[in-house]
Amino acid sequence: MVKKIFIKTFGCQMNEYDSNRIYDSVKKIGFEKTDKYEDANCYILNTCHIRDKAKEKVYHEIGRVKKKFRFQKKPIVIVAGCVAQAENQEMLKREPYIDIVIGPQAYHKINDTILNYFKKKKKYDETEFDTISKFNYLSKIKNKDSKISSFLTIQEGCDKFCHFCVVPYTRGPEYSRPFTQIIKEVVELIQNGTKEIILLGQNVNAYSYREKNKEFRLSDLILELEKFSEIERIRYTTSHPKDMTEDLLNVYKKSKKLMPLVHLPVQSGSNKILKLMNRKHTIEEYLKIYKKLKDINPNIEFSSDFIIGYPQEEEEDFKDTLRLVKNIKFVNSYSFIFSPRPGTVAADLDLVDKSQSKARLEIIQKLLFEYQISKNKSLEQKIVNVLVENQMKDKVKLFGRTEHMTSVIFDGGIENIGKIVQVEISSSSQNSLFGKIKRNYNQKVA
Ligand code: SAM
Ligand code: SF4
Ligand code: F3S
Repeated sequence: MVKKIFIKTFGCQMNEYDSNRIYDSVKKIGFEKTDKYEDANCYILNTCHIRDKAKEKVYHEIGRVKKKFRFQKKPIVIVAGCVAQAENQEMLKREPYIDIVIGPQAYHKINDTILNYFKKKKKYDETEFDTISKFNYLSKIKNKDSKISSFLTIQEGCDKFCHFCVVPYTRGPEYSRPFTQIIKEVVELIQNGTKEIILLGQNVNAYSYREKNKEFRLSDLILELEKFSEIERIRYTTSHPKDMTEDLLNVYKKSKKLMPLVHLPVQSGSNKILKLMNRKHTIEEYLKIYKKLKDINPNIEFSSDFIIGYPQEEEEDFKDTLRLVKNIKFVNSYSFIFSPRPGTVAADLDLVDKSQSKARLEIIQKLLFEYQISKNKSLEQKIVNVLVENQMKDKVKLFGRTEHMTSVIFDGGIENIGKIVQVEISSSSQNSLFGKIKRNYNQKVA
């Protein structure tokens, strides 16, 4: 009998990539993906620990599953991801409904752990950092992701230890996958129909792989991907300003497929706060990168992450952040109030008054949204290049993205999926553009 597996994924794109790879792996032991969790024989929660009450959210989700399966045979319940890594044994003790806890660097053991659980009914905690084995194992299993735009993790972990962040503790030290292993996976994705590759890493631009005295960097990978005629677009995320090296900046001069959107988290516009955060870069250095890229191509836009209300953030510091936002006019950004994370340096610092942080968050989000809305509005009655990803649920409209990652919803037939088309924008909202196909990008104009 075919067994069914359901994975609920929280957190960043790297978790999404991992969940897809888990699906690929468990196929080997007879598990098939299901979209209905109530049908699952194996229920996996792939968790995120970055903010808020991450741990409590997990117990809440498990409670829901428990309730649903009250009168049914219980599935194997697995907690994976960053909360699993941070909490490990504790979870098995606190919630007996959980059978296996597995950290992000132990997914090469997932099949054996599940099989062992079936045989011995013994609870497992697999939370060792073994990134090399993980990727060696995964590279032997074909990546079956069949999306037009696919994620591909090339780097994991972080050695930077920003004082607010759990990632170095949950994902372990920086590791870069072998160059040839990545290219092999690119070929698999191309065979599945991928047209856009989004290279992933917690510090993707720190990618560095050495072989025979030669160092391969992110810039080398991008230029290698560029050679595949099937690949139309290349993106990478998330970057650290400290690793925006000259070779990477210069790729923007050479590459035709690298998209003109740079997601470069700055966190704060105040040098004082950046220092307290242990960010290892200044605003002046950030602005230098911005200027260099704009000089190379004025069409390049920036998006960013902001932490509001970091301990000791004063009105002046917040104004510095607003000044930076007004200066750069980020197109699409994430902003959150600082959330103290257990085990990090900033865990026990005195917090900025909550109502003040909330008020600041509202102000910055309003400003960021204004830029987003006006950028989208400026595209009305213009023609944009869109990579068509799929058909909308209504089976009438198509969905795709502009070069700057903005969602576009438009009329058109499914024969356009996977192609770059030119869409005439008729209206816009904060997050999306709407219009109709003008013509296929490669079609000759009469
Ligand atoms: N490596 C990336 C960098 O250096 O900016 C960021 C990766 S982190 C997974 C994604 C974002 O989560 C960060 O850019 C930061 O804005 C946010 N974040 C991390 N820890 C946080 C915390 N304790 N409170 C609020 N936001 C946090
Ligand atoms: Fe977290 Fe800083 Fe590492 Fe980014 S660079 S993952 S924010 S510790
Ligand atoms: Fe969350 Fe872990 Fe990603 S904490 S943001 S899932 S690296």
